[in-house]
Amino acid sequence: MKIAVLAGDGIGPEVTAEAVKVLKAVIGDSAALELVEAPIGQAGVDAAGDPLPQRTLDIAREADAILFGAAGVPGDEQIPYAMRPGASLLRLRKHLDLFANFRPAIMFPQLVGASTLRPEVVEGLDLLILRELTGDIYFGEPRGFRTTASGERQGFNTMVYSESEVERIAHIGFRAARGRRGKLCSVEKANVLECSQLWREVFIRVGREYPDVELTHMFVDAASMMLVRAPKQFDVIVTGNIFGDILSDCAAMLTGSIGMLPSASLAGGNFGLYEPVHGTAPDIAGKDIANPLAAILSVALMLRYSFDRPDFDGKIQAAVSAVLSDGCRTADIFEPGSRKVGTREMGDAVVAAIRNPER
Ligand code: IPM
Ligand code: MG
Repeated sequence: MKIAVLAGDGIGPEVTAEAVKVLKAVIGDSAALELVEAPIGQAGVDAAGDPLPQRTLDIAREADAILFGAAGVPGDEQIPYAMRPGASLLRLRKHLDLFANFRPAIMFPQLVGASTLRPEVVEGLDLLILRELTGDIYFGEPRGFRTTASGERQGFNTMVYSESEVERIAHIGFRAARGRRGKLCSVEKANVLECSQLWREVFIRVGREYPDVELTHMFVDAASMMLVRAPKQFDVIVTGNIFGDILSDCAAMLTGSIGMLPSASLAGGNFGLYEPVHGTAPDIAGKDIANPLAAILSVALMLRYSFDRPDFDGKIQAAVSAVLSDGCRTADIFEPGSRKVGTREMGDAVVAAIRNPER
């Protein structure tokens, strides 16, 4: 297994270090594992004068999978796109055509009390947000700033989807639903946007090839309401890049903390990038208080999707569950009566649980 480790900025290096520890522990055989580290984000600028250095891109391309931490520095939206640390991830996704972003939101029973929602609303929650990741208003052209005839400045972007882009994410979504509870909800804004009308048409067409999957459609505003009102109605939600960005943060909070949510971004085959959904969290960086579980669970997704090892995925899930049952909590999921631990201690606890599963 050749894995590119792109830890990046902020809490990225801290949580990635714990994820790597867990990866090594679960694989056991160190000869089977080749880890290649490379800088990205501000770390890329510091090392090579580029947030996405060519060498990093080459290392990422040559690997079987990428473990990504976080990239960006506060206020970097002022910096032009090509040199902006926070945009390095977007460029990497685009370069590697990582169009299918899996963001599962699963409720660990031990954390039901950490959610801001009532237990009966979130207990047993298991939903998958599949977000299209390389199209939409994130990458649509034209984009930029301009000055109108009357001398006023404008910022503008373009929301655009081609049929082929919608088709390929639709197929991934229907196949994912088939392997789960057989329900797919396509989320868009077809009552207002042409882009969404096309999205819906394509989903209806592709859906005819999957008569065993129940296809429904929901406008994004209603979907955001339903996610907090009755999230258990959903099995697989498939949506575009910007709506998926917003809805997946919301879904993360259902499970207690964004510090718990892993993700996988695939290019259609086994190759993928795995990252926690949370970002750099500069306010808590370097303090050993960040929750490494999203990064650790991202490794579990990697072992399942890129290396076809659901057994290793299962071991990590079981270890995380055992650690939570022992009462270990980082600050973001802390509840009175549980034991507050730091980033490293949480990682060590998961490693220990992997080594002694029957404890
Ligand atoms: C995410 C993040 C990124 C996005 C940012 C960091 C560019 O919010 O992965 O959800 O908007 O896609
Ligand atoms: Mg986001």
